[in-house]
Amino acid sequence: MITLDEKPVAAQRSLLGRLELQPSDALLALIGLYAADPRAHKIDLGVGVYKDEAGHTPVFAAVKAAEAKLLAEQPTKAYVGPEGDVGFFAGLVPVVFGDSSLRARLAGLQTPGGTGALRLGAELIARNNPDAVVHVGGPTWPNHAPIFAAAGLPLRQHRHIDLSTQELCFDDILAALHGAVPGDAVLLHGCCHNPTGADFTVEQWEALGALMAKRGLLPFIDLAYQGLGDSMDDDAAGVRIVARHCPEMLVAYSCDKNFGLYRERVGALFLLTPDPQAAAVVQSNLLSLARANWSMPPDHGAAVVRLILEGADLRAQWLAEVDEVRSRIVAMRQGLAALDPALAFIARQKGMFSTLPLAPDQVKAMREDHAIYMAGSGRINIAGLTPAKLAPLAAAFAAVR
Ligand code: LMR
Repeated sequence: MITLDEKPVAAQRSLLGRLELQPSDALLALIGLYAADPRAHKIDLGVGVYKDEAGHTPVFAAVKAAEAKLLAEQPTKAYVGPEGDVGFFAGLVPVVFGDSSLRARLAGLQTPGGTGALRLGAELIARNNPDAVVHVGGPTWPNHAPIFAAAGLPLRQHRHIDLSTQELCFDDILAALHGAVPGDAVLLHGCCHNPTGADFTVEQWEALGALMAKRGLLPFIDLAYQGLGDSMDDDAAGVRIVARHCPEMLVAYSCDKNFGLYRERVGALFLLTPDPQAAAVVQSNLLSLARANWSMPPDHGAAVVRLILEGADLRAQWLAEVDEVRSRIVAMRQGLAALDPALAFIARQKGMFSTLPLAPDQVKAMREDHAIYMAGSGRINIAGLTPAKLAPLAAAFAAVR
């Protein structure tokens, strides 16, 4: 029986005292480090955000226009369901898959960013097959491993690229897929590989799609940079090819970069299934997982994307802005590659990132001696460059090498 004069439980440091101090995220920590650096000539090539020639990350004009329309016309802020904005999801289907012919075999929903899509997809795989292993080429986005680990799935890495030659290790990738157990998942970057910019060719996608189908592997494509590589359609070629080969696949989609909606956390998870009956079962699982994770995703950014995709003028304006972003990235790639033969590979790669072959102490020297901030892996955000920053970067690279 409990009495009021009962003695307190023996003193304990904290009821949460078993927690251990966690390291802060090394990539996101660069934001604070850069901000604190007083040097005027500092260059930020860290976290993956697009910057214009003036060094700003502007809100897309199409987004501003859609936001104005939303503000004027949105009739309610009442809850949506765990599936989020269904018009947003339906509008993205042809953007990603080329047309809507696969719609009946697709399950899926809006998610809080691409990260939410990856996490929900990982949880779905784990719920279906807790023994699944996820195969991924390395180096990969540093957050992939924690996301899959949190869902209970181990990530097994093979080589995606040899950074000393900047050549894709396609044989290593094929060998990894031959060694995988049927039912395992294969995590692939749809385009603009993060952190290397080294993408598969169409022929390589065909080979990967055929092999994954033959070996009974589950493709999971992370498509976070559509439109920043070659074009909206070319950047989705991998997804569309794999969808032709494989009866089932997952696609995690992010609108961070191609709509510039970073902090609004707008993403989607697509599940291709063999038939509409399977899609209904998968959908029910997705809804229950979403409800348990975040109940329903944030609305604003997805509503903005829906308005852009629905309106012909807004859509054309948005696509023109994506073209502008991509052209600037390509120009920066070509400009940097022209400055040093050791940087020639930069022009062959795609999207926001490439990885310089630098050891951690050289990355540190780039930061401390040259005020150039990049990820610890040597990854640089090409979209953080301007014409004036190309020569200082090339000079610093030559100096620390
Ligand atoms: C990046 O890789 O820099 C971006 O995707 C931002 C992030 O969340 O890591």
